[in-house]
Amino acid sequence: MRNSKLETERKLEELSKYYLENSIDEKLPEILKSELGIDIKGKYGKINLIHPILVAPGQLTREIQQIEKIKMAGYAGCVLKSVVGEDENGLCSMSIYRKKMTYLKTVYEDFDKEGIFPVILWDGRGDVRSLNEYIKFAVNVFPYLNENFLIVTSIICHFPGPDEELKKEEWIYTTKRLFEIGYNIFEIDFCPALIYDEKFADKKNILRWYREIPGVVKSVSKNINVFCKILNLDYGIDFQVEIVKEAVKGGADGVIIGNRIFKKELNCAWGGKELRERNLIMIKTIKEEFPDLSISGTGGIYTGKHICQYLKAGAENVQILSYILGKVKKDFIKKKGNKFDKVLYELLFHPFDGLIPVLVKDLD
Ligand SMILES: Cc1cc2nc3c(=O)[nH]c(=O)nc-3n(C[C@H](O)[C@H](O)[C@H](O)COP(=O)(O)O)c2cc1C
Repeated sequence: MRNSKLETERKLEELSKYYLENSIDEKLPEILKSELGIDIKGKYGKINLIHPILVAPGQLTREIQQIEKIKMAGYAGCVLKSVVGEDENGLCSMSIYRKKMTYLKTVYEDFDKEGIFPVILWDGRGDVRSLNEYIKFAVNVFPYLNENFLIVTSIICHFPGPDEELKKEEWIYTTKRLFEIGYNIFEIDFCPALIYDEKFADKKNILRWYREIPGVVKSVSKNINVFCKILNLDYGIDFQVEIVKEAVKGGADGVIIGNRIFKKELNCAWGGKELRERNLIMIKTIKEEFPDLSISGTGGIYTGKHICQYLKAGAENVQILSYILGKVKKDFIKKKGNKFDKVLYELLFHPFDGLIPVLVKDLD
């Protein structure tokens, strides 16, 4: 039998108070189901998640201490910073991405007078570690993965120009090294910086990457699942759908929608509201075409309401970076813990636009 409205509000208030003092834990979904009658479980492909909120690959998922904090705070999982891979002779075609970052700053959109929706600007460079160094990190982090905490890996290897052969060895060797540790879910980071280079902006060539690369990664083992991060290009929604079609043809088990939008005038990629709005349209359109495709949503998420929009559009989980990494000029409700704790509480429990209050309101 359903609770009365008053009873539900009282229980929600009690839970909100409890989690102000405590970290989110794996008991939360069951408590919400039994006490409030709402289901917040998420999925990542075939994997069940305790809720739909993951930390996206980037500057917050490159050190073991960060992964530990993410897990302790109660996120459903994270995607590791993309490794810039190599073949067994150490050849790394994308070595240009292994350069130290020169800048990273927070900016705010014009409408955001309070400074509560940070957008990150940076030079788009990747992880500086060699594959061997990265593997040490991946080995150390692997024990944190369990049924309540998913860890996904992410790789960048050779992206050929239009007249080049794909260097499969790089994709295969990098995948093998990570698979040997135990990782079996791989994101492919089709990163916005790829289109810095004019030769890469060729539409046919981009479609070919999505068609060829997933199968090469999956050739390492039938137990590998591949999720392609979808480039957010300026060729219109039909081309975006084309990209996803090619990824599916190529064997992708799902897609991440979508990577940040490269802006020529900024000479870097952009996120925030524009990215969120574009992604929501893209997810809805793609779901019509591929109703069963697993979609992970990422971009411009700062509230539980935004998460709800992504889930309603058809995403099965969301990945967040800028809201945790960027400077937020307003105090968070939760005072205890670090930024990971505070952001997760805000996203789940904020009384007006937290995911749980929004879902409770939807019950009415
Ligand atoms: C500083 C920074 C580093 C990033 N590094 C990666 C990466 O290594 N691999 C990847 O797939 N995406 C990377 N991204 C993209 C994020 O994972 C995320 O999808 C994107 O920023 C949109 O989410 P947000 O609006 O919450 O930041 C990075 C983004 C930023 C801002």
